[in-house]
Amino acid sequence: MRPGIAFVVVMGLVASATVATAEPVASRRDQLRDMVAQDCGSCHGMTRKGGLGSPLLPELLAQYPAEGLIETILDGRPGTPMPPWKSMLSRDDAAWMVAYLLGEVK
Ligand code: HEC
Repeated sequence: MRPGIAFVVVMGLVASATVATAEPVASRRDQLRDMVAQDCGSCHGMTRKGGLGSPLLPELLAQYPAEGLIETILDGRPGTPMPPWKSMLSRDDAAWMVAYLLGEVK
């Protein structure tokens, strides 16, 4: 384990004290941003304006309950190309990703 990682974890918990779910640590947030651009972007577009997948723009997503978006990311949409991501993403990861897509976190 890298020295300092415990510090990062502690700071992550402090920073997330005001939100309902535990915010992923900074290094994980970097990975999630990359995933949104590359993995999700391959279908939803690098700029999330849509492609094979629907656009994932904040003004469109804001009309759905966040919980439903989290479920869609974790379980996918059976019968559509939207795959389930729960083998790669925890619920906290998916919740953070939804906040990121909504523009609530950077
Ligand atoms: C293989 C293509 C593909 C990939 C990769 C993909 N999606 Fe999707 N996604 C889709 C499609 C197609 C839909 C629309 C499903 C439908 O018709 O209801 C969708 C729907 C969604 C929705 C619901 C949006 C709405 O308007 O109903 C969300 C949220 C979403 N995807 C997030 C993601 C995220 C986050 C990732 C990356 C972790 C991702 N998707 C990766 C194809 C993909």
